[in-house]
Formats: sequence, C-alpha cells, structure tokens
Amino acid sequence: MSDLTDLSQGDLFAPPDPIVTCKTIDELHGLVRDCSKCDELAEYRTQAVPGVGPPDARVVFIGEAPGRWEDKKGEPFVGDAGAYLTELLEKIGLQRSQVFITNIVKCRPPDNRNPKTSEMDSCAPYLERQLALIKPDLVVLLGRFALERFFPKEKITEAAAVPRRKAIGGRELTFLPMLHPAFGIRRQDLKPEIERQFWKIREVLDAL
Ligand code: URA
Ligand code: SF4
Repeated sequence: MSDLTDLSQGDLFAPPDPIVTCKTIDELHGLVRDCSKCDELAEYRTQAVPGVGPPDARVVFIGEAPGRWEDKKGEPFVGDAGAYLTELLEKIGLQRSQVFITNIVKCRPPDNRNPKTSEMDSCAPYLERQLALIKPDLVVLLGRFALERFFPKEKITEAAAVPRRKAIGGRELTFLPMLHPAFGIRRQDLKPEIERQFWKIREVLDAL
C-alpha cells in the first residue's frame, strides 16, 4: 500500500499546469503575453515577445532576450542583429519564414541589461514547451546565454559550431551553439567566423 509521501509526490490535488498542458503554440504564446512572473520585466516591457515561425519548423533559433525594437514590434530579432540573422539564413539557403525564432527570456530587460538567472529560470518552462510542441530537428543556440542555459559548463568560444545532443522533456534534441549575430554587428572582423559557423547548420540539416 502506498503511504502519504507517495501520494504527495504526484501533486494529485494541484491544478494542472497550463504551460505543460497547452496543446498549441498559439495557446502557449497567449500565456506568455499574459505572463507577469518577473515583476520588473512585466512592468518595463511594452509587450512580451514569445517567438515567431511555423509551429512545425525544422530549426529553432534561441537568442538572449528582446531588445528595443523587438519590444516595440512584439517579434524577436527585428533590429540590426535580426537583419544580419536574416542575411545569414539566406546565405545557407533558408528563408526566415521557414525557421522558428525565440529567446531565452521573452521580455526585454531594462536598458538591455543581461537577463537575471531568476528571470531565465522563470521563463524556461515556456521555452521547454515550445521545443516540446515544435519538435525541431535542430536547435541553434545564439550566444552565451542560450548555450549556458542548456550546457551550463561550456564556453561559447570552444562550443561554437560543435553539434551535441541532449534530452529535453524526455526527447533527445540536437543543439548547435554559435556566436550571437550581434557580435558581427559590433565587430565586423568576426563576420567570416560567424558565417563559417552558420554553414554548420546547413551541414547538420543535410546529414539528418
Ligand atoms: N538579440 C537577441 O538575443 N534576441 C532578439 O530578439 C534580438 C536581439
Ligand atoms: Fe514571464 Fe518570461 Fe516575461 Fe518573465 S520574462 S515575465 S517569465 S514571459
């Protein structure tokens, strides 16, 4: 016979978690838009930026957090880094409309400060549910914050362009970390290296 500790483990009497039980990306993005788990971000943002792209995309790109333009438009990667991302995608034969684009944190941090660990933790269930619903072949991690979220011990300089597998929510996914495209805006000399890393996406997709 099970004892009381067994019963309490399963949260038998807790209401179902709406993030985990939602069935579509649209439904999930509705929850993100209404979210106010991070007091400071919820107050500061114009709007939350859940993500954009086909709900069955083969590739998901994960950046850091919305910036000024993303916060205004409600769409990720629409500023300078976004224009560069679109250009990079086209170079490897992908249209922006074919891929799903989102961020670790869905609301803009004040003055573009780094997201706090507590904010990344609070926002993680949305990202995990996005991955569970989309079931992509490849997840591209743009920059240090995205890398550290999934592979906390790794350094972006060493991990960039090296594919790796990890189970998220019981499903094995392929991840490819790379430098954030914003680096290419700030440091033109890094553009060839960023482009080299981007070609790895094509290579991984073609090998699947
Ligand atoms: N940089 C990011 O990491 N995400 C965006 O959405 C825009 C710029
Ligand atoms: Fe909610 Fe994520 Fe925005 Fe925090 S960053 S308020 S968890 S949507």
